[in-house]
Amino acid sequence: MKLVWLTDIHLDLLEQEERLCFYKQIADVSGDIILITGDIAEAYSVSLALKEMAAVINKPLYFVLGNHDYYRGSVDLVRKEMRALTQQEPLLHWLPAAGVQLLGNDTVLLGQDGWADGRCGDYANSPVRLNDCRLILELEQSATLGRYPLLEAMQKLADQDADNLKMSLINAIKDHRPKKIIIMMHVPPFKEACLYEGVISNDDYLPFFASKITGDVLTQIAQEHAGIQFIVLCGHTHSQAYWQPLDNLIIKVGAADYMKPEIQEIIVIEC
Ligand SMILES: [Fe+2]
Repeated sequence: MKLVWLTDIHLDLLEQEERLCFYKQIADVSGDIILITGDIAEAYSVSLALKEMAAVINKPLYFVLGNHDYYRGSVDLVRKEMRALTQQEPLLHWLPAAGVQLLGNDTVLLGQDGWADGRCGDYANSPVRLNDCRLILELEQSATLGRYPLLEAMQKLADQDADNLKMSLINAIKDHRPKKIIIMMHVPPFKEACLYEGVISNDDYLPFFASKITGDVLTQIAQEHAGIQFIVLCGHTHSQAYWQPLDNLIIKVGAADYMKPEIQEIIVIEC
């Protein structure tokens, strides 16, 4: 089975002709399913972009959302839309709503969006402010109250997704006894996977680039299940990284350039 992995494709920045050309590239590699680890477009365009892509490629698309997919919208409303989309469109599967997917006998696929949680780097002294706190309703409301209400709002989103990930992993292991679990998320779960020009991002950016709580969940579950191989696919930093914190836990972060979407990797799994 061939899985075509994409991340941070930011389709809203492309003209229709460019988008169609990208979809054709994806169709030409003849994958069985498409995986997208977030930053597909923005709140007002993400559904349209996914429907357009599915109509051309005509293969199942499994995706999580990135922070940009909520821009100019709210987390609550976009997620309602994604749940409806997953129910209504047979090719579109937002993994937090679609749940655990069996790929062959021994491999399962699951995912959560994931959010940076301010726990890596030096949040207290960082001058960095991503557009998240200007363009996502829930974060904007908190940011107007100050630096620490914003941190609390970031951690609420991150901790909820990490909790959901933990439950999803526990259930997947109990129900399917897989040998391999592919986990999709947007935000890298370890600072060592957040690179900028080949080195770990600095303490100003790390609070907004990494999700420590997600890394803690993955470490715990992977340590408890040494016989299962865990492969995490993510994006967000746009900077390619490979980090293996445990023998059975691998983190891959995709590279991305705005306006030049590309296929990250074609992953082949045995069925
Ligand atoms: Fe991105």
